[in-house]
Amino acid sequence: MTTENLNIPPVALGTWAWGDSGETGDGYFGSSLTQAGLEEVADKAHAAGFTLWDTAVVYGMGRSETVLGGVLTRFDRSAYQLSTKFTPQVAGEGDDPVADMLDQSLARLGTDYIDLYWIHSPADVAWWTPHLIPLLKSGKVRHVGVSNHNLGEIELADRILGEAGFRVEAVQNHYSLLYRSSEQAGILDHCRKEGIQFFAYMVLEQGALSGKYSPENPLPEGTNRAQAYNGILPQLKALTNKLAAIGAKQGAAASDVAIAWAIAKGTTPLIGVTRPGYIDGLARAISIRLSGDEIAELEALADAARVNTCGWWEKEMRV
Ligand SMILES: NC(=O)c1ccc[n+]([C@@H]2O[C@H](COP(=O)([O-])OP(=O)(O)OC[C@H]3O[C@@H](n4cnc5c(N)ncnc54)[C@H](OP(=O)(O)O)[C@@H]3O)[C@@H](O)[C@H]2O)c1
Repeated sequence: MTTENLNIPPVALGTWAWGDSGETGDGYFGSSLTQAGLEEVADKAHAAGFTLWDTAVVYGMGRSETVLGGVLTRFDRSAYQLSTKFTPQVAGEGDDPVADMLDQSLARLGTDYIDLYWIHSPADVAWWTPHLIPLLKSGKVRHVGVSNHNLGEIELADRILGEAGFRVEAVQNHYSLLYRSSEQAGILDHCRKEGIQFFAYMVLEQGALSGKYSPENPLPEGTNRAQAYNGILPQLKALTNKLAAIGAKQGAAASDVAIAWAIAKGTTPLIGVTRPGYIDGLARAISIRLSGDEIAELEALADAARVNTCGWWEKEMRV
């Protein structure tokens, strides 16, 4: 009963930062976004063929979805795909909190369907997963995936959906050079074997691996990402220097190489896009080919940094 295959571009676009107020010191990112800047991001992205947009209710508690919905009014609905999430941890008290949260997302995004709908973080997998089935049947949701689930939880969700003729079509987990928990836990292999698309989030570690930030130029003070990363920037220097050196040989930037690494590992990177120029980076990243030696060197430097970038909302995937 699965609907037609999900059309997945080589890189998907993340909008967590779009939920910030825009004021440094008042959000996760402090990226100072403007409406005109985000419209330019969207125009450039669509012109380059990047049309899958990821958001979530909890990114600015509705603000990311509202801003994204507003920016995308410039395009025909068939020109882009929307990915948003049900977050069990903020479920309401109604008869069907999943259907309710979806309806609120649809209203904020200005649409009547979501291409890819996720359970954001596992709570009670056996309880929440079946709630997706009527949404798939109604067509309000075209495809479903699970995020931050470990291997056992992915398999359980897949079994539950399978009994109704559907399946887990995508997995979305933190995966970067610095955080390879999903690979070590066999989730990447499982996805490859089962034909499940693996979306890698925080490939750039919220900017810490972009080459833009360093101990001399740290992440914006007062933000959550500054708190998470500024203390470890000195340990990341050798890795970001190597990313930049590999990039320089191909006319690319450090961030492009970090994204190319995630593509080389068979994932679809989900990159937080805050500035129009970053779309040029995505276009470069998809044409970079890394050798086996370069991949091994990057991973060795990442391991040598000895940092743990597991987010506060995440759990280690190795069981
Ligand atoms: N399912 C989940 O639990 C979960 C959790 C986290 C994220 N996500 C999703 O994954 C997306 C990506 O994660 P993220 O946004 O947290 O982090 P990310 O993609 O690792 O990093 C995004 C930041 O990196 C910088 N950046 C992006 N492209 C760049 C480029 N080409 N060159 C230089 N710097 C660049 C920007 O910083 P500046 O703005 O400072 O320039 C941007 O804010 C999110 O937006 C969200 O959609 C999902």
